[in-house]
Amino acid sequence: MAEARAAKKKNKPGKRESVRPLISAGHIQKRIRLLAKEIRRDFPAERLHLVSVLKGGVFFLTDLARSISGEVSFDFIAVSSYGQNTHSSGQVRLTRDLDSSIEGRTVIVVEDILDTGMTLQYLLRLFQQRKPKHLRVAVLLDKPERRIAAVHADYVGFTIPNEFVVGYGLDYSERYRNLPYVGILTLGSTAKRASTE
Ligand code: IMP
Ligand code: MG
Repeated sequence: MAEARAAKKKNKPGKRESVRPLISAGHIQKRIRLLAKEIRRDFPAERLHLVSVLKGGVFFLTDLARSISGEVSFDFIAVSSYGQNTHSSGQVRLTRDLDSSIEGRTVIVVEDILDTGMTLQYLLRLFQQRKPKHLRVAVLLDKPERRIAAVHADYVGFTIPNEFVVGYGLDYSERYRNLPYVGILTLGSTAKRASTE
């Protein structure tokens, strides 16, 4: 009985777990509209093919796509790099490939966050082999302090400190993705702050 109760408690969101707002929904939307303009300015006459990384990049892609004027198409890819916690496994595995070829296309990779850079390094190598006309990277968040791989993002929404963040697509064990804002996740006093160190 006591064990069952403990297990039940464990599966419940921790009591002291909390999210401290970092970037408001309004700020995110404003910044995305500016990024969209910047991207269109760089490629005034091209059809832009946005490739988003499931699942974290989905909200960013849908908002960005609707803010870019002119012709836009999109596709999705999925990789796994993180387990059930806030620590990266450091390994990237392709779990879902694109539906269509990117050869000759102007491709913008749309990611939620650039952290160690391992995911984007893997994807950029993969996409480069497929001979796109242009290959660019747009990330909503950049955590430069954590960088391991030398990856450069062409379009950055916000540069943030080394904190574990959730919301607007970003998750902690699949939770919090639906928050319209980005916040810092705190696991409580015993677990300390959720950190990606
Ligand atoms: P990277 O390969 O270390 O750059 O990490 C990229 C992926 O790790 C992102 O697409 C996220 O899914 C995940 N990630 C990195 N930092 C965070 C964070 O602070 N919160 C939630 N997910 C994160
Ligand atoms: Mg992601």
